[in-house]
Amino acid sequence: MKAVILAGGEGTRLFPVTKLLNKHLLPIYDKPIIQYAVEKMISFGIKDVLIVSNPLYITHFKRLFVDEKRCSVSFVIQKEPKGIAQGLLLAKKFVGKDNVLFWLGDGIVEDDISRHIHNFTTGAKVFIKRVKDPERFGVATVNKKHHVLEIIEKPTEPKSNYAVTGIYLYDNTVFTKMKNQPPSARGEYEITYINNKYIEENTLKAVFLKKQWFDIGTFESLYKASTFLRKKFLKSQQVGKK
Ligand code: G1P
Repeated sequence: MKAVILAGGEGTRLFPVTKLLNKHLLPIYDKPIIQYAVEKMISFGIKDVLIVSNPLYITHFKRLFVDEKRCSVSFVIQKEPKGIAQGLLLAKKFVGKDNVLFWLGDGIVEDDISRHIHNFTTGAKVFIKRVKDPERFGVATVNKKHHVLEIIEKPTEPKSNYAVTGIYLYDNTVFTKMKNQPPSARGEYEITYINNKYIEENTLKAVFLKKQWFDIGTFESLYKASTFLRKKFLKSQQVGKK
């Protein structure tokens, strides 16, 4: 299994801070956001991680992981922000014949999802989380067997409260599914298009996250995640002392 983290984007909702620094490098308590994803991947035993980001910040990411010995971290440049699926397509050579864990780098997950990573063979999985404001996300409709029936991107009238968290597991057919993908009305290569291809084959399954999930896109979420992770960190220190 290879892992790909998408860390592009302008982070306009975090201006002016993100005029200086890529969003994924902002600190959440004691670590840059992206480091949470990389450390989760290391905890799954993943040995190869690729970071996809825009040309401006790639050197920052390289500097951050220069001493990382637990896994190999490599980098690829996404010249223009042409969508999440385009970011994944840039990882085709890196993924080779493997399956891929694809992670939008601004997501922080508390659940232990390692068994899903280890047991994954074919098809695709999306990790979803019950939220109060589903209209801000991709929204999944799921049946009793946890098959995803539909994902609608930022719906005005959401059919469920389950947000797609931006963590996906894809088998290697993901790259054939991207062939002839048209750009959407907003001119991007949407990940929803790919997920719909798996839905057509009835091979897209959902995993329900139960613990905390943070999608860092606003100052409020930055603050909440920092407060939560600080508390967790201090608690672990106290347990260690006992
Ligand atoms: C992206 C995905 C969306 C998902 C969200 C999670 O949206 O397109 O389906 O729910 O990430 O953060 P974006 O944050 O790029 O608007």
